[in-house]
Amino acid sequence: MKFLVFGGAFDPPHKAHVALLRAAVRAIMPDRVFVVPAWRSPFKAAAHATASERAGLVRAGIIKPLRGLLGRRLSIHASELRSRRAVYTVETLELIKTLHPGAELHVLVGSDNAASFDSWKSPLRLRREASWWTARRPGAAGPIPPFFKILPERMPDIASTDIRVRLLLGEDVSRWLAPDVVSRIRRSGLYGIRLRRRLRGLLPAPRLRHTLAVADLARRLARRWGVDEEKAALAALLHDLGRAVPAARLPGLARRLRLKIPRSDETLRRAPLLAHSYVSEHWARKLFDVDDPAILRAIRRHTLGAPAAAAMSPLDKTLYIADSASTDRRYRGVEAVRQLAFRDLDAAFKSSVAAKLRHALIKGEWLHPQGLSLWNSFRR
Ligand SMILES: [Fe+2]
Ligand SMILES: [Fe+2]
Repeated sequence: MKFLVFGGAFDPPHKAHVALLRAAVRAIMPDRVFVVPAWRSPFKAAAHATASERAGLVRAGIIKPLRGLLGRRLSIHASELRSRRAVYTVETLELIKTLHPGAELHVLVGSDNAASFDSWKSPLRLRREASWWTARRPGAAGPIPPFFKILPERMPDIASTDIRVRLLLGEDVSRWLAPDVVSRIRRSGLYGIRLRRRLRGLLPAPRLRHTLAVADLARRLARRWGVDEEKAALAALLHDLGRAVPAARLPGLARRLRLKIPRSDETLRRAPLLAHSYVSEHWARKLFDVDDPAILRAIRRHTLGAPAAAAMSPLDKTLYIADSASTDRRYRGVEAVRQLAFRDLDAAFKSSVAAKLRHALIKGEWLHPQGLSLWNSFRR
């Protein structure tokens, strides 16, 4: 008996998954096909849809479209989802071998997973126990290990990450997904759909327009500089949550929440609006369940930055620049900063800090010591 095992996060499953599996079935002619959604890939942060949501998505997006071709030979193997922990592929293959002694195992993975094979648990044993298959995708990561059999078909250049980023940004992704997957995602508000609905309820229209402009620029800058696009888009969407509160109420709120704002008393007295980024961070955590420290830090740092430029991560700088140079900004020179950001991230960051200080000076506002310290760190 030939078994074909197709593993992945399928977060969400898309048409390239179906094309890949179809190609593998043509090449291998298996007697049984198992699609194995990982509960959580050992290499990724928590999946974005829950285990049961993904099981439903895999049924709608992979099993159903291939039912005609494979009939009852095709099924979802939910052992990893049911285990509710990160399961190594070597464990799943052991389980299948125990349940089906003498099975000839073929494992199919996407090209990004194939490229990371050497860092998997027990790679030598994995190589012994199964034949390994993948296909090339134009935008895929790194080289594929030589023992993989490469399916001749060229796969469409789609990855689940791109689809999640596009959904976060409100773009249409229906051409890459089965119609049932689209309707399930809409119905359950997955991958940022619910988040965007809540944002529309929380932010006044001009603030929402600004937020979407920042998210668009942050994503493009992230792509340019190799920053995680999903983190950049998410940080941008949530960066101004604190602006949902009138400036006059920010000091009281910041005190009640005991937010750690540098020079807190002075800041809340002299420039209360500066507290909004700390409120945004708090609500991103409490209302939107964001627990990624890199995202939270970028949100917190989008107005005052850090005491020194060297402490700012590429994600921090991406959001800071995207916020100060988004297409809805109108100050003189903003267009030049926006263009500079695609050529030199550090220079654009410095220009953004300068623009912010200039703006405060022209309006005769108090300059926050952290803003000055950040500026002086460029001069060292
Ligand atoms: Fe802001
Ligand atoms: Fe903003």
